[in-house]
Amino acid sequence: MKHVLLIFSAIYLLSCTSPSKDPIDEKVEILMKQMTLEEKVGQLIQYPSHEVNTGPTVKNTNEAEDIRNGYVGSLLNVTGNESTRQLQKIAVEESRLKIPLLFGFDVIHGYKTIFPIPLAEASSWDLEAMEKSARIAAIEASSDGIGWTFAPMVDVARDARWGRVMEGAGEDSYYGSLVAKARIKGFQGESLNGKNSIAACAKHFAAYGAAESGRDYNTVDISENVLREIYLRPFKASVEAGVATFMNSFNEISGVPSSGSIFLNQQILRGEWGFKGFIVSDWNSVTEMISHGFAADPIEAAIKGITAGCDMDMCSKTYRKHLVELVKSKKVNEKLVDESVRRILRIKFMLGLFDDPYKYCNNDSTVILSAPHRQHAREMAAKSCVLLKNEVKALPLSKELKKITLIGPFVEEKISPLGNWAALGSGVNTVSLIEGIKSKLGENAIISYAKGTDFNGTDNSGFKQAIEIAKTSDAIVLALGEPGWWSGENKSRTNIHMPAGHEQLIKELRKLKKTIILVLYSGRPLILTEIEPLVDAILLVWQPGTEGGNAIADVLFNDYNPSGRLSITFPYHAGQVPIYYNYKNTGRPLTDEKCEWCTKYIDAPNKPLYPFGYGLSYTQFDYSGLQLSSEVMGMKDTLKVFINIKNSGVNAGTETVQLYIRDITGSLTRPMKELKNFTQVYLKPGEEKKLSLDINVKDIEYWSYGNEYKAEPGKFEVFVGRNSIDNQKASFELK
Ligand code: NOJ
Repeated sequence: MKHVLLIFSAIYLLSCTSPSKDPIDEKVEILMKQMTLEEKVGQLIQYPSHEVNTGPTVKNTNEAEDIRNGYVGSLLNVTGNESTRQLQKIAVEESRLKIPLLFGFDVIHGYKTIFPIPLAEASSWDLEAMEKSARIAAIEASSDGIGWTFAPMVDVARDARWGRVMEGAGEDSYYGSLVAKARIKGFQGESLNGKNSIAACAKHFAAYGAAESGRDYNTVDISENVLREIYLRPFKASVEAGVATFMNSFNEISGVPSSGSIFLNQQILRGEWGFKGFIVSDWNSVTEMISHGFAADPIEAAIKGITAGCDMDMCSKTYRKHLVELVKSKKVNEKLVDESVRRILRIKFMLGLFDDPYKYCNNDSTVILSAPHRQHAREMAAKSCVLLKNEVKALPLSKELKKITLIGPFVEEKISPLGNWAALGSGVNTVSLIEGIKSKLGENAIISYAKGTDFNGTDNSGFKQAIEIAKTSDAIVLALGEPGWWSGENKSRTNIHMPAGHEQLIKELRKLKKTIILVLYSGRPLILTEIEPLVDAILLVWQPGTEGGNAIADVLFNDYNPSGRLSITFPYHAGQVPIYYNYKNTGRPLTDEKCEWCTKYIDAPNKPLYPFGYGLSYTQFDYSGLQLSSEVMGMKDTLKVFINIKNSGVNAGTETVQLYIRDITGSLTRPMKELKNFTQVYLKPGEEKKLSLDINVKDIEYWSYGNEYKAEPGKFEVFVGRNSIDNQKASFELK
């Protein structure tokens, strides 16, 4: 192995140290010439603070002294202008070379104004709105000392057991790529040196979401084909969007932990995609190569990490303790260290930290939680709601309603709706559901409330009171589901139902034969199969953030017509996961339920409860007249797909028109459907529009036999519709 590493280092270094005329590179070179080996290694070290803890605690004993000596390049989880200023002052006024520190933080869905969790935002299918959330998050974070966010998480997630599904854009790599680009643009702004631009970080590289059995940190074993086709696409898109940094994942792929993967970091990310930013490990992931059984001790972990091109060591201090000695003893080529230092300094220069190391401490912090930020949080939360069921038009509710009953532990709650990874979001600023409904209905409405059960659904002593108040109500709104702290890092679940007591409460209330509206909180797809028939409407609100209460009231009372569409499948049964819309046909596809030797379960359907792309509206959209510009597409052509959409209902609303293709035969088998385009259209009642969507050859390229992305000639089907199942069909041939 040592031999392979040395050969690789030599080839790699030859290929990457060509002279450059980029002014930033020149500045980097000037600085590099003055740096001692210790100072160089210092740039590769990231210390955690004691302020916020987002991983196993590691104590820093000599933080200030280490910064003064130039032994630290970055800190994570230090927030606030004063704390960051103090440390920056040591770096730029007391250290020899005055190299500024970079302060990183998990600004995932807002900083203090908290937006819906990323999976919720992804349900909006509104890329501009998502970009705006990221922009606002950057504006707030950059006004409070932060110059780098560990976001967006661009991991494709097909397994609802995995708690981090909440943090990404769902199961589709095409859509996930667009969302990744939008979020990166939002965080980084027009240029990295903008006053409110912060460096983004595409994480977790790679395939972290494919952990076996949905258990966080677990082993990943996937083919290169699935890796390239499904999991890597949003990362590639992130590079195209100019993302400044990448973060390695905790998992291994085929026996190699990501922080030690030459294949991922050097060959694909830097070699094939030309990524020029730097890679940070995940929390302790360099040292964890020992537990993986990939490195015998911290020394070997440091060698493997730096050789693989993992530039910055988050928290483990393995580089700090060993790299200097390893270079001195010639076990690590100093040029490898130099390359990593260059990449890190480059980003610091690009951010403008050398011009103004206090740039993130001097911005106007009164913008934090400002009215426009909160207004966007409200709009975003409304856009993120997905109407899963609406029988007998139980929704929307009338604002004339005199008496409304609210039941559930979420009604008054202010912390859980912020969801996991809520940065510095505080319950003090959250609008609860009851507050949102009260301000919508004004003083005259009678609102009765009972908690009914607790978040865990284990204390059912409140059932009696809930049933009592429900008996006399005009409308029952149940606020139930999964609390915000049940999803996120290391929150894998085997049972992905609502908490047991919540389901039980629904069953009890159903006996009253009243209209029940379920406002469903969750950070992942839940199994709703049993309770779905027991309620009249389900509004999925995910974890909606600071303005959740107002936004939900907007939707319940028809000030916003729900337009959210799922970007992740809701299974019928937990035994179906991983489940996703772009499955393969197999050699024995299910033709009808009775087929004996077709691929199927004997105790559950193959279909999910709610498919990818699904969501209802308070109005009805009719699709007609699917047409293609041609039945034949040349290798350089763009095919136009036309469709008429009519709002035949009584409310104005937004429809997300989705275009899928099926590549019928390939050199490798192709999925039954793949999303390739979508558009949103707002239509008034009775209004009709003819829409046009493009299919480019680029869109139909795939990682094919022969290991390259290419579009292969042959027959294709095109599907256009309201979700991944319900659509109209046409066909064309690629020649
Ligand atoms: C571990 C998580 O996996 C990663 O996403 C996060 O950015 C770091 N901890 C820092 O909090």
